[in-house]
Amino acid sequence: ACGMANAAPSAAPSTLDAVLDRGVLRVGFDAGYQPFEMTNKQGKYIGFDVDLAKMVAKEMGVKVEFVNTAWDGIIPALLTDKFDVIMGGMTVTPQRNLRVNFADPYIVVGQTIVLRKDLAGSIKSYQDLNDPKFKIAVKLGTTGEQAVKRMIPKATLLQYETQDDAKLEVINGKVDAFIYDLPYNAIFASENKGAVVHLATPFTFEPLAWAIRKGDQDTLNWMNNYLRQIKGDGSYDRLYQKWFES
Ligand code: ARG
Repeated sequence: ACGMANAAPSAAPSTLDAVLDRGVLRVGFDAGYQPFEMTNKQGKYIGFDVDLAKMVAKEMGVKVEFVNTAWDGIIPALLTDKFDVIMGGMTVTPQRNLRVNFADPYIVVGQTIVLRKDLAGSIKSYQDLNDPKFKIAVKLGTTGEQAVKRMIPKATLLQYETQDDAKLEVINGKVDAFIYDLPYNAIFASENKGAVVHLATPFTFEPLAWAIRKGDQDTLNWMNNYLRQIKGDGSYDRLYQKWFES
């Protein structure tokens, strides 16, 4: 061979190869987002995303390492190689997709509203909240925040670093509503029946997907084929039942 002159243009670096070399898949998420990623009493991460990440790592023959990261900084953290993939219930949005690549969606959700109990009956949809007198809590950097800005622009928006802080404000009646992904809100409302009410019909369409750095076709190809396999062979359904139907 005559070397460099005829060498193919160098391929984009593959996260997949780096993971196999390292023997560790580093997964970025933001714990506290039930039932996808939570910290249990023993301090261990559990949830739908956690189990999926373990399955992926097992199939790759590597260990898994979780990197807990604040949501509003999670894309910059991926882009600066703090971990290999975001498996944290990230909604595929056109804006995020300008900065990262997404695998095929692994679940579809939407935003719903949890109201402080007194408002049950008078507020029936997001449109009813479109008034400066209503205070709406969201988690910083989420599609819940984007939904309020776009669809409920007149309401008073309050941003919180963690979903737990936002949640408490509604339970205490200091804010009127909390807007977040349906699965989270369903658990939130069922655990606080005396204090809040869930308007459980989603008002946005949100496919959730794993995010990786751009230009990495090898990793994307592996992930999409893996997702098709587990959706077809029953293992995805078993996991779904464990976290969403029990
Ligand atoms: N799906 C929403 C979004 O993409 C919320 C996800 C929050 N995830 C988390 N791990 N805290 O903005």
